Amino acid sequence: MKSLGKKFFLTTPIYYVNDVPHIGHAYTTIAADVVARYRRLEGYEVIFLTGTDEHGQKVLQAARELKVEPQEHVDKLHQRFKELWLRFNISNDDFIRTTEERHKALVCDILQRLHDKGEIYKDSYEGWYCMPCERFWTEKDLIQGNCPECKRKVDKIQEHNYFFKMGQYQDWLKNYIRTDERFIQPVSRRNEVLGFLDKPLGDLCISRPVERLPWGIPLPFDKKYVTYVWFDALINYISIHGSLNEIRRSGFWPANHHLLGKDILTTHAVYWSTMLKAIGLDPALNLFAHGWWTVNGQKMSKSIGNVVEPNRLIEQFGVDAIRYFLMREVPFGMDGDFSHKALIGRVNSDLANNLGNLLNRTINMMKRYHDCIIPEPTEPNEDADLKNEFQKGIDTVHNLYDSLAYNKILERVWHLIDVTNKYIDHQGPWTLVKSEDGKERLATVMYNTAECLRIIAILVYPFMPKSAETMMQQLGIEISIKEQGLETIKTWGGLKPGTRVQPGNQLFPRIEDKEAEKLLAAVEVAEKLDSKKGAEVMEEGTSEQVSIDEFMKIDLRTGKIIAAEKVEKSKKLLQLKVDIGSEVRQVVAGIAECYEPEQLIGRTVILAANLKPAKLMGVESQGMVLAASEGGNITLAGFDLEPGKGIRVR
Ligand code: MSP
Repeated sequence: MKSLGKKFFLTTPIYYVNDVPHIGHAYTTIAADVVARYRRLEGYEVIFLTGTDEHGQKVLQAARELKVEPQEHVDKLHQRFKELWLRFNISNDDFIRTTEERHKALVCDILQRLHDKGEIYKDSYEGWYCMPCERFWTEKDLIQGNCPECKRKVDKIQEHNYFFKMGQYQDWLKNYIRTDERFIQPVSRRNEVLGFLDKPLGDLCISRPVERLPWGIPLPFDKKYVTYVWFDALINYISIHGSLNEIRRSGFWPANHHLLGKDILTTHAVYWSTMLKAIGLDPALNLFAHGWWTVNGQKMSKSIGNVVEPNRLIEQFGVDAIRYFLMREVPFGMDGDFSHKALIGRVNSDLANNLGNLLNRTINMMKRYHDCIIPEPTEPNEDADLKNEFQKGIDTVHNLYDSLAYNKILERVWHLIDVTNKYIDHQGPWTLVKSEDGKERLATVMYNTAECLRIIAILVYPFMPKSAETMMQQLGIEISIKEQGLETIKTWGGLKPGTRVQPGNQLFPRIEDKEAEKLLAAVEVAEKLDSKKGAEVMEEGTSEQVSIDEFMKIDLRTGKIIAAEKVEKSKKLLQLKVDIGSEVRQVVAGIAECYEPEQLIGRTVILAANLKPAKLMGVESQGMVLAASEGGNITLAGFDLEPGKGIRVR
């Protein structure tokens, strides 16, 4: 595909390196990938940037716990994101890490310039500091004396710090938000930011004293301080270019889209735009804030154990099904709910029944009626309705890309799939083949059907690149989609008659009921095991605090194991009978890899006795035994002295 000299720049947020990548992160990155791929097909020179946010308190704390240097820690952790993006077929052009020299150099350059211009000053500051959020709050921000964001305890801190004169830009910013429609999208989110700006906008504290936080970029004009992590992180969007002059010269500024989650819209709309204004770079941003994914109606959380782990999902469903589902299920900008059931539903209806079936039947008919060779259309000027429908579809899709209306784009493409399936049904190749006149017509019908598929493959490509290339291969087209580009679908007839189709495997096999049941059961087990891991997370101090009353709601009791056996077809699960005095409970525990059933008989354990019963691999579990698990080793919790059965544990 030849570049048209047009440039397109889009970014994702840089992800906190400490977080385990989950579908929330994958969502933004896939969304950006779709646009990057489409714009490249259109002939743009694209820079699609993603990366990791590697400074700050949490990283330092985690590294200290592991007794490694923070740099060593982030060198290892950022790989998880890189590897996942490779698996997801993400076509990012660069990956920025905030610990790289090229990034640190630009952060320092900007800080020095702003300091020299008088945009940064030093002052004493007293405020309530939330350590996990790394943020200061004013008295009135607090909720019941706790951090308004994470609800945890805050500390009163007084110290000298450096401030960026952000407050002076308040009026400019309000006016800008009101007048530039593209600045904050969807437009419905503008009011949130305007609401935030109704209160006086203070200056931004952009430093942290080294003695409190040594892990950050030292201020170039005062090495006793490091840069506040957000001031550092936002500059990632330009630091790949090296210098401010280079950014201006590159033609890649301002970015066409900064994609981000709704939770970080204010930091971008307020901090980033005023920073750019102060630096003297064009602040004409396009911030697109998407919604959040819940899982089966619940917030994703490590302590609940319902974090949807993308690697596991890829193994179960394949990359393209997930990419499709995330983009199709909810309008970009709205919150969505993830469920494996809904994903299976989409695979079966949209991918297997509609798209997969269209490819399958077309290739089969080509084999049956034309010996696998795509025929020359005998009536190239016929079937105007079909061709118009496709032309309209291609134009609509094109316009929808401007507003990132992914779900509508896919609806429109699936409408074209539907139109093609109906065209085949209506023309009835199986009848045409029976007469000589019919055979004449058949060549046109089969050619048109194959051309429809070629166009559909190109439109599907940004969302499901692998599957689209498979479609091309089965159609026998050797030129890659990247090379074909959008130009080749602007006029009908890009497909060369005489091409030999290559019958192949089904594109998306249906997930039959039995298999779906098995998948869902496996998901349930994995979630149970993850929720146990959640208990470990608590020790890391990352879960929410609970009151003593809340804790006492959990009925922990001693119990004696009186029977134990393996759960059929499961490597991890044991089925136990636990005598808690008043009754015997059946409990399923994920400990089979560390305990033989026989060695458990007679052992006293601690049972969470008032958990809602749940089924694991079809076996009901009426409670949960407590255990510690570390790197795959599991040890059941026990006692120094043997207590009786059914005793409350607190
Ligand atoms: N490091 C900052 C961003 C700095 S950008 C200069 C950060 N990182 S994050 O890892 O916590 O979040 C990155 C993105 O993931 C955010 O856009 C956030 O909205 C998104 N998501 C995190 N959980 C999510 C869901 N459950 N659903 C959808 N997106 C979610 O913030």
